[in-house]
Amino acid sequence: MAIHTACDDREVEATTERRPRPRQGQELELEIDSLAQGGRGVARANGYVVFVAGALPGDRVRVRLQKSKRAYAEGSVVELLRPGADRIPDRCLHDSEPCPGAPWQGLPYERQLTEKHAQVADALTRLGGVEGFALEPIEPAIDQWRYRNKLEYSFGERDGEPTLGFHRRGSWHEVVGIDDCLLASEANNRARNEVRDWARRESLTAYDRRARDGALRNLVVREGRRTGQVQTRLVTSAVEIPRPPVDLHTIVEGSGSGTDGPTGALGDAYLEERVGDLQLQVAPRAFLQTNTEMAEHLYGIAADFAALTGSERLFDLYCGIGTIGLALASRAGEVWGLESVPEAVEDAEENARRNQIGNARFACADARLGIRPLLERAGSPDVVIVDPPRAGLSKKIVRRILECAAPRIVYVSCNPTTLAPNAAQLVEAGYTLRRVKPVDMFPQTAHVECVALLERD
Ligand SMILES: C[S@@+](CC[C@H](N)C(=O)[O-])C[C@H]1O[C@@H](n2cnc3c(N)ncnc32)[C@H](O)[C@@H]1O
Repeated sequence: MAIHTACDDREVEATTERRPRPRQGQELELEIDSLAQGGRGVARANGYVVFVAGALPGDRVRVRLQKSKRAYAEGSVVELLRPGADRIPDRCLHDSEPCPGAPWQGLPYERQLTEKHAQVADALTRLGGVEGFALEPIEPAIDQWRYRNKLEYSFGERDGEPTLGFHRRGSWHEVVGIDDCLLASEANNRARNEVRDWARRESLTAYDRRARDGALRNLVVREGRRTGQVQTRLVTSAVEIPRPPVDLHTIVEGSGSGTDGPTGALGDAYLEERVGDLQLQVAPRAFLQTNTEMAEHLYGIAADFAALTGSERLFDLYCGIGTIGLALASRAGEVWGLESVPEAVEDAEENARRNQIGNARFACADARLGIRPLLERAGSPDVVIVDPPRAGLSKKIVRRILECAAPRIVYVSCNPTTLAPNAAQLVEAGYTLRRVKPVDMFPQTAHVECVALLERD
């Protein structure tokens, strides 16, 4: 199975000299032959690689080009002319359009798993140049639908009234309204529809970025899957709005028209969730894995790779509300968490208290600056767990992790294309990549999580 990335220029350079290259705005009819890292379809036009958003292998599509570079172009589907032979009918539709949150729903689930497994292999071997590790079978998701515990919706307007849903693919101002999104639970859908109906009853207006006018910007619905608690966070511009429905746990943020982020105070409302044996509080700004059920599997794999025997010093870097470190604390001697969001660190400390875990401490700092002080305070760890955001680790942070000189590193990654260079740098410095286990946390999308075990020789 061939996997391409937007860095595949070399592969097509030889053929680009003779023919005029397609231009931005041009429409082409193309046949999709594979999927790229990140999930877009890959086609060839006059020797160019074209990355096509919204297309799947075997599809014949009309594509409008948004970008045209020397060796490749990027575009999105304008019309599906003939679906690929393996396509299955889309199930999650909004206004008769495929859900933008489920771009791979046309692929049978087994095929999604095969593609994700191949993407991890390709990233590590081709982009990272790392070899000799055991790539284990992908852990399938428990639920293929209705698995998300959090969704963010945008307000738009349709026929003169507010609508609430997702941005149309590639559009910042068009919102596709939703009645039932199959990525969300029934409770999440109910909460969103209730807020939408309230906005309609109150004749509120959606915020218009271009005109810098209107009241309602977006709505985050978060859910404790194990506690049944539903929390909604409504983001508004700095205008007065009537009181939102009281039976929803609603926090109103005044964000000020035209600013880039919320400036108003958040309420002190916490989400309550249970992950494995842990009772957790989660502040509105703190990270929680979006698929609660699969987070338990992910942490189980991290625990297996960490192979703790009860006495080890464990660093949990990028610890969020402390979930991984706290889940492993009974098998470790001591746990030290590091996290940059202060509210998440407060949650981690509270979560240790409420779960009667006495051997875990947490520090609030950027990993770039916080690892050395942590090392001085705690001493060298036996095991380091890292779980960074999609951007992965900078080279400098990898160097700081190398200074920890831990015999074992467990890397929890939500992006194999950033895991790959990080793993390569660690291997270059003397670690061996032993095992990689992909996990499907996000069915119907191209996202793949994996857990990697690196050991020092
Ligand atoms: C993928 S989440 C993992 C959180 C936690 N391990 C979990 O499973 O819930 C990444 C975490 O890293 C934190 N983070 C992002 N950038 C950071 C940085 N430069 N230094 C420290 N923490 C950071 C985020 O706030 C977030 O909590």
